Amino acid sequence: MNRSEFLKSIGIGVALCYANPWLAEAMKDPEFSRVLFGDSFFWGIATSAYQTEGAWNIDGKGESIWDKFSNKGKIKDNSTGNVASDFYHRYGSDLKLLKELNFKNFRFSFSWSRLLPEGTGNVNTKGVDFYNRVIDQCLELGIEPWATLYHWDLPQVLEDKGGWTNRDILGWFSEYTQLCTKKFGDRIHHWLVLNEPMAFTSLGYFIGMHAPGRIGINSFLAAIHHATLCQAEGGRIIRNNVANSHIGTALSCAFIEPYKAKPKFQRAAKRLDVMINRLFIEPALGMGYPMNDLPFLKKLDKFMKPGDEEKLKFDFDFIGLQNYYKIVTKPGIVPFVWANQVKPGENAKLTDMGWEVAPEGMYKILKQFDKYPLKEIIITENGASFPDIVIDEHVHDSQRISFIKDYLANILKAKNEGVKIMGYFVWTFIDNFEWKEGFRPRFGIVFNDFKTQGRIVKDSGLWFKEFLK
Ligand code: FCB
Repeated sequence: MNRSEFLKSIGIGVALCYANPWLAEAMKDPEFSRVLFGDSFFWGIATSAYQTEGAWNIDGKGESIWDKFSNKGKIKDNSTGNVASDFYHRYGSDLKLLKELNFKNFRFSFSWSRLLPEGTGNVNTKGVDFYNRVIDQCLELGIEPWATLYHWDLPQVLEDKGGWTNRDILGWFSEYTQLCTKKFGDRIHHWLVLNEPMAFTSLGYFIGMHAPGRIGINSFLAAIHHATLCQAEGGRIIRNNVANSHIGTALSCAFIEPYKAKPKFQRAAKRLDVMINRLFIEPALGMGYPMNDLPFLKKLDKFMKPGDEEKLKFDFDFIGLQNYYKIVTKPGIVPFVWANQVKPGENAKLTDMGWEVAPEGMYKILKQFDKYPLKEIIITENGASFPDIVIDEHVHDSQRISFIKDYLANILKAKNEGVKIMGYFVWTFIDNFEWKEGFRPRFGIVFNDFKTQGRIVKDSGLWFKEFLK
């Protein structure tokens, strides 16, 4: 037996490790195996339309708020998502790669303005065709598609009418959801209504850091209420139109820790917790907005219409929990929550986003969510950006592998203690456009050379390939 026959006989994974000492090191943990999570656990990769597709103005696509915002020069590195990681043209080979990495679930989002260029009304058949091709290719490869209806890219024409601050969005969003479920619901069972409503309402309508760049308390509050209504209404439409649907919504969550064990720190932590973790889930569960613990939210009453309490409710099949970091807090000046984040200490490990690596925060937030009567929790995003370097066609991203293993270990701990966690989606597949930050932060398990759109599977991708085998 020669060397290559020998390597083949012991399996390609080991062969990869053999050629790659960095990866061999990462794989050294035979105790830590996929099997521990059970056979029915969903393993997937999460992406979104604006961050990956590109093709921003072709085949009939209308303008979205992110097209406008980035082309106005609002991104840190002056980039745009006009090409992004070119998924629109490369979905075929990209999905094959996803399969090669042994993932069975692919989360993506529909671009509203690709399907309905004017926000409502005329349907862009080329947009429908594109998603049909993506979905069909997934199914041919044995990959389950998971669709997010709204991952932040509102059609600009609707923003011109007030966007999320206009209650009419309930009608616009319903029309869009009707379209998506009717066109794709025969093949898609897993649906997520919104992606991180807290992020897009606060960054987009309160502090103006993200598209559409609006600043103001009233626009923020209006957007919160209308997003919460759409969250539930979207769920109802999916349940009505899709047989055997599995319906969730994705919430950004971070465990909030008081800097000191003193009452005023604890009160600050509680206020921040309402804003970051409780605001969008409690009304869906029929608990109403958590106004008692954050009196500022009483201002939402201004936007409530008779019957809204009922309309905010929806019994989701799962809650998508997205966690990257924890927040340590102290009393402070951030309006309405009157709490500030305490900068991570000198010894804290930070990602390229400046986010503190805090795997135990994942465990704690899962335990916190376990107190709600939820049917299932799925981690619909988790991952990290680190400054990746290509050496001889390899990216030895050992920091990302450690990050993922540590977070997974904490998920497993919570799962073993009875938290109903049914799946994990890593953020993300191929390096893409990271919103306000542009192309600098790399979150992918596959490296993208943005000049050539060449892909290199990072060690973290190879690690997953082995882990999921
Ligand atoms: C989440 C977003 C996702 C991505 C990651 C890093 O908040 O949902 O699109 O930007 O952060």
